[in-house]
Amino acid sequence: MEVIIAEDQELATLVADAIERLLRSVPAPVLGLATGSSPLSVYDELTRRHEQNGLSFAEVRGFMLDEYVGLPASHPQCYRNVIDTEFASRVDFADDAVQGPDGTAADLVAASADYDRAIAEAGGIDLQILGIGTDGHIAFNEPGSSLASRTRVKSLANQTRIDNARFFDDEVDQVPQHCLTQGLGTIMEARHLMLIATGGQKAEAVHQMVEGPISSMWPATVLQMHPHATVLVDDAAASRL
Ligand code: GLP
Repeated sequence: MEVIIAEDQELATLVADAIERLLRSVPAPVLGLATGSSPLSVYDELTRRHEQNGLSFAEVRGFMLDEYVGLPASHPQCYRNVIDTEFASRVDFADDAVQGPDGTAADLVAASADYDRAIAEAGGIDLQILGIGTDGHIAFNEPGSSLASRTRVKSLANQTRIDNARFFDDEVDQVPQHCLTQGLGTIMEARHLMLIATGGQKAEAVHQMVEGPISSMWPATVLQMHPHATVLVDDAAASRL
């Protein structure tokens, strides 16, 4: 695991550089997209490169990490809509090139298996962008998640619902209780993981991820076993290292 400590814009530049290298060197690149505030400056930087330098996403497939269950497809907080607003609609992805787990499916077990199959059929993910929750979750793999898990239905931890209430008018009750999430085993199959964490509220999770024993109670510790994981943190998030 490589750990890089820098300020936010520099972290975004480093991730955007890695993505640009991938896009310019692989014919049909597959990008793993994350929601949350952590990757926003990366998406802004990629959008800038698209507008100013012609960086194209026309040949890129995008797979999202996770999705709420129980929100109508039109809800602005559906991650499929969030990723469109924050990134996908700002660059030149082809129609349907970005997909996420289907949180509206009648059969969520089948939808989960379909999603893992779609990723495999696309050739697997070349570069996966990740954030981390304050309780050490990645995607929606909450503490206690199997380190070998596949895409599946999960309940959201109370802490995550509290953290995400800011997107639901500060009403925790409005935050869905369930989600579909890529499993830790699914995420570990991506060829390069780039995890971004900023702010002091992430310091304990970053400390556990980098220096703690590998444990399902801190799901992000699974990154210690990945052959190519890059952790990008600012000073505040690195303050317990
Ligand atoms: C959510 C998402 C995660 C994300 C986490 C941290 O729970 N499912 O993928 O990493 O929030 O979000 P933020 O980057 O806003 O702190």
